[in-house]
Amino acid sequence: MIFFIDSADLNEIRELNDLGIINGVTTNPSLMAKEGIVGANSILEHYQEICNIVTGDVSAEVISTEYKDIIEEGHKLSEVDKKIVVKIPMIKNGLKALHYFSKNRIKTNCTLVFSASQALLAAKAGATYVSPFMARLDDWDKKTCSSFEMLSDIKTIYQNYNYNTKILGASIRNKDYIIKCAKLGADVITAPFKSLISLIDHPLTDSGLKKFIEDFKNFKTLN
Ligand code: G3P
Repeated sequence: MIFFIDSADLNEIRELNDLGIINGVTTNPSLMAKEGIVGANSILEHYQEICNIVTGDVSAEVISTEYKDIIEEGHKLSEVDKKIVVKIPMIKNGLKALHYFSKNRIKTNCTLVFSASQALLAAKAGATYVSPFMARLDDWDKKTCSSFEMLSDIKTIYQNYNYNTKILGASIRNKDYIIKCAKLGADVITAPFKSLISLIDHPLTDSGLKKFIEDFKNFKTLN
């Protein structure tokens, strides 16, 4: 399973990359703004720095919504590094841009996807990745918590028609979401640092280690 960190924080990216548990990175305008990255040059430089850390794909999101502007912005982003994946919102102009970039062999990530029908369109337009937003859908649709049904439907549809688009579970807020995505066969998940690092934790690991260390101390005193 492929793991991306959902972050624009270089320290977080380096730390998880050094652990060997992430393959790439996803960002969005909110995450870039959180790091104080504004202005065209600093945005492109920051993406280059991220690409220098990881070996896999780095999703860089366009902020334009007009077709021509999405294409221009997407080209500028993709020229930064061959690891860049142009992240495009699920809107009509976005679909057209996904189709354009697919024909031009530029990788894309269709973002802000909240239904199987949107994911079907993203695959038809030729998206490299589709990002169903899990927790945001459940926040909105509290009664049914339908994100897992959405993911499972997307998986079935893509398998039925052999679409190559990779399912990238996004808006992941805790380890339960990560494990559920893995069980449902998501190709990739993207999650914040906190959720990815929490996969390490188990209380029995902590208590077991404490006991091993205590027992070894006793052994040393015998010598
Ligand atoms: O990057 C997109 C997505 O992962 C955002 O997650 O937690 O802001 O809904 P969240």
